[in-house]
Amino acid sequence: MFSAKAIGFQALGLALAMSLGLAFQAQAADVKAGQLKAGMCVTCHGAYGYSTMPNAPHLAGQPAIYIEEQLKQYRSGKRVNAVMAVMAKPLTDAEIENLAAWYASIPIEVGKPN
Ligand code: HEC
Repeated sequence: MFSAKAIGFQALGLALAMSLGLAFQAQAADVKAGQLKAGMCVTCHGAYGYSTMPNAPHLAGQPAIYIEEQLKQYRSGKRVNAVMAVMAKPLTDAEIENLAAWYASIPIEVGKPN
């Protein structure tokens, strides 16, 4: 049983959600650009974010928000690592968002331990 008023609010909510959705889409990160930029990360983090160096973490499938935050922290010096500081310093916010979107887009599968 919905009153006309409740339905009105629902419609408003839907319209708001849709316009927010569009706003997010308009500035959606560019996965392809991220993949291109990730060329400079391949040596350590692997071609698809599966690291080839034992001390470099895998990035495939990590949530974009996490990768983005770590890169910004390396860039600002809040998270300290000599190598990653050098890598993150020249990155713009947009490049970081694209890199994060690229690594987040790579599907990963987890198996049962042996
Ligand atoms: C020379 C090797 C090397 C290169 C090149 C490199 N990284 Fe890293 N990366 C590392 C290492 C080592 C760590 C772990 C650092 C630490 O202990 O904080 C790391 C950590 C990270 C993390 C944190 C992951 C986590 O689980 O917290 C992110 C995100 C990351 N790198 C992204 C990148 C991106 C994006 C690039 C390319 C622009 C890049 N890295 C290039 C070696 C590298």
